[in-house]
Amino acid sequence: MILSNLLLLTILLSLPLLMLAINAYSFQYDKYIRFHWKGALTSNSIIIKTFSWKSVLEDSGYNTFLALYTKSGTSIASVAQILPLTFSSESFSMSDLSVTGLTPSTKYYYSYIFAVASSLTSSDFQTYYGSSEPVEFHFNTFSAALTPYNFTFGAASCAQTGSNHPVFAQLAEANFDFFIHMGDLHYEDITANDVITFYQAYYNVFSQPNQKSFFQSTPIQYLFDDHDFGSNDADGNVPSKPAATAAFKKFVPYYPLRNYLPADDSATIGGAPQGVTTAINYLTYNKGKYGIYRSFIVGRCLFIVMDLRSFQDVLPEDILGEEQKNWLENQIRYAGNTDEIRHVFLVSSVPWVDKDGGILKETSVWDDYKPTQAMIASLIDKYLYQNDKKVVLIAGDAHMIALDDGRNNEYGGFPVVQAASLDRRGSCKGGPYSHGYHTGNDHYGVLEVVDYENDTICVKIALMDGGAKSIVYDTCRPDLYPSDKNHKCGISWRGWLIILGPIVFCFLVIGTVLWFRRNRRKRMLLLKKKKQQELQDKAIQKYKEDGFASGVSGAYDEAKLGQNLKSQEGKLEVRKTNDASASGHEEDSAKIKSERDMMFKEGTFCEREHLTDMNGQLTPKEGEFADATPVRRNIVYSH
Ligand SMILES: [Fe+2]
Repeated sequence: MILSNLLLLTILLSLPLLMLAINAYSFQYDKYIRFHWKGALTSNSIIIKTFSWKSVLEDSGYNTFLALYTKSGTSIASVAQILPLTFSSESFSMSDLSVTGLTPSTKYYYSYIFAVASSLTSSDFQTYYGSSEPVEFHFNTFSAALTPYNFTFGAASCAQTGSNHPVFAQLAEANFDFFIHMGDLHYEDITANDVITFYQAYYNVFSQPNQKSFFQSTPIQYLFDDHDFGSNDADGNVPSKPAATAAFKKFVPYYPLRNYLPADDSATIGGAPQGVTTAINYLTYNKGKYGIYRSFIVGRCLFIVMDLRSFQDVLPEDILGEEQKNWLENQIRYAGNTDEIRHVFLVSSVPWVDKDGGILKETSVWDDYKPTQAMIASLIDKYLYQNDKKVVLIAGDAHMIALDDGRNNEYGGFPVVQAASLDRRGSCKGGPYSHGYHTGNDHYGVLEVVDYENDTICVKIALMDGGAKSIVYDTCRPDLYPSDKNHKCGISWRGWLIILGPIVFCFLVIGTVLWFRRNRRKRMLLLKKKKQQELQDKAIQKYKEDGFASGVSGAYDEAKLGQNLKSQEGKLEVRKTNDASASGHEEDSAKIKSERDMMFKEGTFCEREHLTDMNGQLTPKEGEFADATPVRRNIVYSH
């Protein structure tokens, strides 16, 4: 009896595990999921885009679920939602999941679970969670919009395609509430209007372990700049614009684009354009439209993210486009008129400060659109400063960390933070910067927002270089970090080109002329030498033939040879010198004499003379001399 009871108990206890085995669950994230990232975080929602290894998933016969839960210590406190994922049938197999109904200011964990079952209950998930090791991710929802909230976000831009730089591992560990990637996610410089090429570029980024780990860890706010929109310095006329925009809308988790209402559905918003009285379906609203500008609220801060590429120079001397200009005015006016908003962050993919300009240094993109800067500055003054609101602008593009406390910001006078590059060689643009700059990579910015629940919000800024704080600043306590560095960017490579180009050019021209002259002289000398040799060879041959034909020594006609040589060369002069010893050829002379005597004896030859060539070498030469004394002849070239 006891035995049978024990058996029954064992069966009952192992039943859940048995059921799990039958249903077949798995937490093997990397086996089935290629990559996922999340963004558009608010106080109660988030968008998660997941890319699967579809064929592996299908072959295994699994359905995919995303379980959201809160934790107490290491165990689940409550399962908030279990959401089935549907992957698109396209080659990139993506699931676009919009999670809503979340609780503000809450830390949510989530895991992917793969199950044969077509539906999954909370208890199924909890049972399996307790028996296996999940791959877990998390995020923190913001506080209810327009209520005080302390948060920390990161910001940076620019990494070469396929970078696996350790800076991404640092960022993954940083535990930011969210991260603003200000462009140049890759440097593919795609100019073709080919959306598949853009998809491939995204894959190239996410296939690197450190980047994959970072982008999966932290809610993202991404905007493209030139290199991930088109080519270097791409503007709104680049042919890749439609593909870049379409790929962004497909791949990226983003807040509603071109929104007139800041993205948080619990906010009470004013400032919508005339005629907009109901909530807008932004998917429809943005279909086929360019522009990825948008705004969102975190606590009592409004973030205004500009798109400085899609409309740049579509109209002459214009960077925003008419619609974005109106939108921007709307956003600033909204922030000014909404009491709860105490702080505004402007996000610009390119540097804002460019006070000293000049042609020798690298200027910012904004340098060409100063009237627009002036327009924005006047709106800020009118709506924000007049209502005691603060502004900080963050920017990328220039591969440096830099900070200006506002003293060099002619348009608005607010602090400007440059936070780049993640993984690109250094460059400096704009400036000067009151707190200096450091070019290079392994850089990012950390911005801690402290809400004192009165009218004051402070931003503590740390600009990181190689994992260490390199430039620090506090918008409420600038006195803590005084600086008069006022660093200006050095001369750019274009500047050096302007300075050194003409000098190098002159040297090149002079050098080339001299080289040609020298080579011409050399070639002429060689030509003459060759001709001389031919003449000499010919003369010797003739002398031999004449000598052998007559059988008599001295058949050679000196005058005739000279005449022939002169007539053929024209510039050749043969000068006879009888003093062989004086020219240091005694030995040769003796040798020649003995050879000549031998030849006389043998009756094969009669007489010879020697000519010296250009190198002073003795050369047998025809000739006839009364005293048979070896003779050295000098050949003198006339030029
Ligand atoms: Fe860049």
